[in-house]
Amino acid sequence: MSDLERQRREIAAALQRPGVSPDPNLRLTRRMFFHKSCLFGAATVGQTFAWWPLINTIDVAYAAEESFKFAWISDTHLYPRSVNTRFVEKVVRAAKDVQSMSPPADFLIFGGDIAQLGKPEELELGVELLKEVKIKKVFIPGEHDWYLDMGKKWGQLFGQPNWTFDHKGVRFIGLDTVSRGPDYWTARKMSPEERMDHMAVLDGSVAGPWAGVGRDQLDWMEKILAGWDPSRPIVIFSHNPLYEYYPPWNFWVRDWREVQAVLKPFSNVTNIHGHVHQVLYNEIGNMRSIGMLATSWPWPYAPEGVPKLTKPMIRVDPGDIYDGVGWEKLTMNRDKIETEYVMWGRKEVFVQSAEDSSLSTPEVLRPRIADQLGPYEGSKP
Ligand SMILES: [Fe+2]
Ligand SMILES: [Fe+2]
Repeated sequence: MSDLERQRREIAAALQRPGVSPDPNLRLTRRMFFHKSCLFGAATVGQTFAWWPLINTIDVAYAAEESFKFAWISDTHLYPRSVNTRFVEKVVRAAKDVQSMSPPADFLIFGGDIAQLGKPEELELGVELLKEVKIKKVFIPGEHDWYLDMGKKWGQLFGQPNWTFDHKGVRFIGLDTVSRGPDYWTARKMSPEERMDHMAVLDGSVAGPWAGVGRDQLDWMEKILAGWDPSRPIVIFSHNPLYEYYPPWNFWVRDWREVQAVLKPFSNVTNIHGHVHQVLYNEIGNMRSIGMLATSWPWPYAPEGVPKLTKPMIRVDPGDIYDGVGWEKLTMNRDKIETEYVMWGRKEVFVQSAEDSSLSTPEVLRPRIADQLGPYEGSKP
């Protein structure tokens, strides 16, 4: 048996507990129906998706107090300037773009993976480059920021990894979905650098299913949402998607069902997430999830396809470092949420017809990996 295979088995044995069955309380919501109607309506009358490049999502929602914009940047994966400046240049460009928004954004959310290998100079470089953005900035961590020193430097620079604030009738919540990776490194006597190397690999089969919210954070969410009017908007920022998209790459949190349970009473919930480096859209229960671009590089779509509600992005040109990457403007109107993907050098962000990409076919259903795992309590190292 190879070393890698042995590691995988050890980790799987440590992480998987039998006897837990799902509560797949999924249903077609009014929002989902509306969204599907838009897609099928446009397709059946032979229109193009000309308006999709600007707006991937239009939703009936209840009442932000007034319309406003905010911006998202994430997954900059900065190396020190002495190693390369390619990613630095793209952060400079994104920061300038955000700062020149008119009307201005009310705030910038940075969605994690500011650094590539979690080094202090990488994290500090991110702070320096984002000084260009003068509006309020809030941060959540990515796994690349965390696993060299278990979030010590990140905490010094950015504070608490989870937080909440209210803005113009919307409750915003920032979640930490990266810090609770089950500790398999101590027993293996891994160095911080080895641990970080494991976490920096897209294929999570070495580091295991590390992404999760954790019981303590679920309890905290319950507490801060007690008393919030169930019809008022909630926007949750997380590095990983809060549903099961593709666990082998940790494109999920393994306790997403518990997250759904906490949010079940609320009718207007949006999850905006990074980590996937690609355009994504999904709805489960009362929550819609929107995937954001990276500034660094695009990841491919999962081999098994994308959620049915996703209008896939174009296939990018690997020879163009500005293709398939960028940042987002998000608008909260009184009655809708709009996502504008700012993909540098592209007028058309989305594929224009089903014939353009096999990814336009519906997702393949398979047994959910979460069904095979035990309850996730989350453990702070
Ligand atoms: Fe990333
Ligand atoms: Fe990530």
